[in-house]
Amino acid sequence: MCGIVGFTGRQQAAPILLEGLSKLEYRGYDSAGVVVRDGDASAEIVKAKGRLKVLSEKTNGGEAVPGTCGIGHTRWATHGEPSENNAHPHSSDDMNVVAVHNGIIENYQEIKDKLLKKGYTFYSQTDTEALVKLVDYYYKKYQVGPIDALAKTMVRVRGSYALAVMFKDYPGEIYVARKDSPMILGIADGESYIASDVPAILKYTRNVYYIGNLEMARLTKGEIEFYNIDGEIIEKELTEIKWDAESAEKGGYEYFMMKEIHEQPKAIRDTINAVVSDGKIDLSSVGITEEQIRDVNQIHIVACGSAYHVGVVAQYVIEDLVRIPVRVELASEFRYRNPLLQDNDMVLIISQSGETADSLAAMREAKNRGIRTLAIVNVVGSSIAREADNVFYTLAGPEIAVATTKAYSCQLVACYLLALEFARVRGTLKDNDYQEMLRELDTLPAKIEKIIEDKERIQWFASKYVNAKDVFFLGRGIDYAICLEGSLKMKEISYVHSEAYAAGELKHGTISLIEDGTLVISVLTQQELYEKMVSNMVEVKSRGACLMGLTTYGHYNIEDTVDFATYIPKTDRHFSASLAVVPLQLMGYYLSLAKGLDVDKPRNLAKSVTVE
Ligand code: G6P
Repeated sequence: MCGIVGFTGRQQAAPILLEGLSKLEYRGYDSAGVVVRDGDASAEIVKAKGRLKVLSEKTNGGEAVPGTCGIGHTRWATHGEPSENNAHPHSSDDMNVVAVHNGIIENYQEIKDKLLKKGYTFYSQTDTEALVKLVDYYYKKYQVGPIDALAKTMVRVRGSYALAVMFKDYPGEIYVARKDSPMILGIADGESYIASDVPAILKYTRNVYYIGNLEMARLTKGEIEFYNIDGEIIEKELTEIKWDAESAEKGGYEYFMMKEIHEQPKAIRDTINAVVSDGKIDLSSVGITEEQIRDVNQIHIVACGSAYHVGVVAQYVIEDLVRIPVRVELASEFRYRNPLLQDNDMVLIISQSGETADSLAAMREAKNRGIRTLAIVNVVGSSIAREADNVFYTLAGPEIAVATTKAYSCQLVACYLLALEFARVRGTLKDNDYQEMLRELDTLPAKIEKIIEDKERIQWFASKYVNAKDVFFLGRGIDYAICLEGSLKMKEISYVHSEAYAAGELKHGTISLIEDGTLVISVLTQQELYEKMVSNMVEVKSRGACLMGLTTYGHYNIEDTVDFATYIPKTDRHFSASLAVVPLQLMGYYLSLAKGLDVDKPRNLAKSVTVE
């Protein structure tokens, strides 16, 4: 989704903007632009379609646009095709107001019609141009300052926005407004920053403010003032970002995704250690009490993408260990289907970014109905983290590759920990088993390290399938949930059509798609389902499929059936997703690499989907 960076201070703005935007590339974009102002001189806009490199060349690395105050933007097209014309910044015709925007203005057509009647003309197809011109309209009509003009605009528009604006009459200042789209503000000595996400400004400062919904801010050099929608000044607390700048860099790896795959053991260990000490889970940092745990009747897990796949695993694990009903649902469905929620239900939202529009809306729906919301979130201070009743933070650190790996793995572990604690409190797990499972959880990082050590074998196998057209993933129970994630990894970064099926469903349609050479990846980590899975594999093999089998060490007879076998260490059956997902992440990665694709920035995808 769109990325925003802004700077006002003593240094030249353009290089900072370009560098910051490069750190937001992972969000996905199709065009980019900057506007910079040199003192009182008029602001200069430069835009380019395509990669940031083009914008950088056009501005000579920023040198061609001198000035110490500016804003920049990477655009992920929603209204209007990707083009230079539709790229941000957008401005009023007299350059009185120049702005960049992330989000969607739902009633932009109505606003545009109104402004057309008032004599405004439009040069782009974007909703943002209407937004910018509305700010200009109110600013001039009511002869008010920037904050009042923004406040009037906020009352008039519907939708979501992180908006950064420069006004001709206020050199050296940037104004921002926010509703439902991410934005942080950073501060250092004599310098102020804005950004859609922390990595963009981490090199310059770790001191940030989180701006709330329907709030505004005014940035001058080294100072930031916040306002509510009535234009009154409000106080904000400064937060220190604990991530070090290095964790947002590639650190010698060719792609972030490979670096993040390797970071999984540490990320999981950190997430476990944050809530486990002396052989006991302590959820006091999450803020949920034993009484509240006892009261829960049903859990609704709501999430999108890979986080939803975590939910599918969690459904198996929680129902089995805690014996309460769990329903897992896509946030985009949950939010619009008028779900049946009872007083003692709990809605568990899983989100890496904490900004996914559908997950956020689903959570608000639950809250409006008075249902307790517990969020598993990675990004501190994100919208979901701030609004949920309870937050379980995963400690994955910054995840940059669009395809999630370490955040997914931490989310799984967070779900296991919740399941174990719920089971202990509700008495559905014997103390011995609880202790044993906690000890087993502790071994996962080392087991993942062992799987990663063997990555070259997967690379070899993936390179043979560089021309694969269709891939099918088969599994039962938790293995089916793992297949969902393995299949997503493959299609999102390798552009290979892939689908995951519960193996028992094979005969109800999918098997007709199997022909000579079709790659079928089977996951068999669940002992009690092993034989049934082997039967399903034989069925597809006899129809010409080429088979890869993913199972645990010891099941070497699988080699009688498959063309390629890969093994993971044994673990408690509830935790097997944490290990089995790793070879599948590697498979997607190496296939993408072999095809010469940009592993970290797959086409059309965004890391954080902040619009519906
Ligand atoms: C995007 C990302 C996925 C992610 C999903 C949900 O599609 O590419 O990796 O799983 O959004 O994101 P969230 O931040 O809510 O976990």
